[in-house]
Amino acid sequence: MERIRTQVGIVGGGPAGLMLGHLLGLRGIHSFILEDRSQEHVIERVRAGVLEQSTVDLMHEVGLGERLDREGLRHEGIYVAFGGERHRIPLAELTGGRAITIYGQNEVVKDLIEARAASGEPLRFEVDDVSIRDFDGLPKIHFRHGGQPHEVTCDFIAGCDGSRGICLPSIPASQVQIYERVYPFAWLGILVDAAPSSDELVYSLHERGFALFSMRSPQVTRLYLQVSPEEDIEQWPDERIWSELELRLHTRDGWTPHRGPVTQKGITRMRSVVVEPMDHGRLFLAGDAAHIVPPTGAKGLNLAMADVWRLAGALDKFYDSGSETELRAYSERGLRRTWRAQRFSAWMTSALHRDNSSGDSSAFDQRRQRAELEYLVSSRAAMTSLAENYVGVAFD
Ligand code: APR
Ligand code: PHB
Repeated sequence: MERIRTQVGIVGGGPAGLMLGHLLGLRGIHSFILEDRSQEHVIERVRAGVLEQSTVDLMHEVGLGERLDREGLRHEGIYVAFGGERHRIPLAELTGGRAITIYGQNEVVKDLIEARAASGEPLRFEVDDVSIRDFDGLPKIHFRHGGQPHEVTCDFIAGCDGSRGICLPSIPASQVQIYERVYPFAWLGILVDAAPSSDELVYSLHERGFALFSMRSPQVTRLYLQVSPEEDIEQWPDERIWSELELRLHTRDGWTPHRGPVTQKGITRMRSVVVEPMDHGRLFLAGDAAHIVPPTGAKGLNLAMADVWRLAGALDKFYDSGSETELRAYSERGLRRTWRAQRFSAWMTSALHRDNSSGDSSAFDQRRQRAELEYLVSSRAAMTSLAENYVGVAFD
């Protein structure tokens, strides 16, 4: 058995775990990151792409702003489309200059992995049989790497292992409350080699359901369609996806997405999850391990960044002064932000998706939904409410 001693053991090398390791490193705190997938898989998997202003600011603060500045696409507005018309919501104008930046989650991950390698701090990919124990005393992480058993002893464990990790299930069920809502929708997403036909995102509600026009770069378009959670991707050849997208997205002014080769496609189910509290003894959950939001509000990655920013600050306080006050406040402060993001994401989701599961009330709901969107695009107060949540409030 190889024995390793570190200050913070980090389970999961997604954006949460990698950013936490980076933030700790900048403060001279040692960490050990373990990730069960390969480096290629972690870098290549297609995920979210919208960075809030505070996430962009954080990337700059930690010395990772250079490529983001060069390649990220700053957007000062979004469109909401319905009834054949696109309506622009001027995010920056409504929020005193805050905006979002399009930069793929995998690009953030790539930058963080590079920084980790340069720091010389450990990051192990392709580990197996990860388990955690003793998080009421001196915590330990056990894992296998190349067939060999390893034990990491640490002062704290950060559970950054996403929605299917092992950290949350390691907490006794009686010690956590899990709030969950499963939506009767899924998103079918495609990545396309084609120049985006709009400079800004288009969130569209059509009688056949929601569709979203997004992008990754000046050469790559990202598109989503609301489908049923039971939908089988095999039933969606490219031609069917394109005709459905064009039907739902095109507006009377002639706007429609550009077609191009589809380089990736997949279906993601939608749910909201909140774990309360976000800590147990010396184990702290961060990112998708602690909460999941439906993608409509583009909050998942940004919530993960807010968590690890707060956790790194609290750990720094502890190592600096011995005070656990901030660590003990980690969960409560995080839950306030999480519920705020859940409220916003659930509202965006219900305003923009067609719910065919509600039987008799659906005709009423369709009219109500139309009134909701008409109010949204005609009231500066309603647009400001969307804008301040969409660009995100400062990390707290
Ligand atoms: N041991 C080690 N690593 C694990 C284990 C395990 N038992 N289980 C899962 N992992 C890894 C996953 O392979 C993944 O790389 O933990 C990582 C968790 O990363 P993410 O799922 O990306 O979650 P997080 O870092 O919290 O980032 C949240 O990701 O899913 C999106 O929309 C979400 O954008 C948000 C962001
Ligand atoms: C994306 O580009 O992947 C994207 C954009 C906005 C969302 C969700 C996903 O709300």
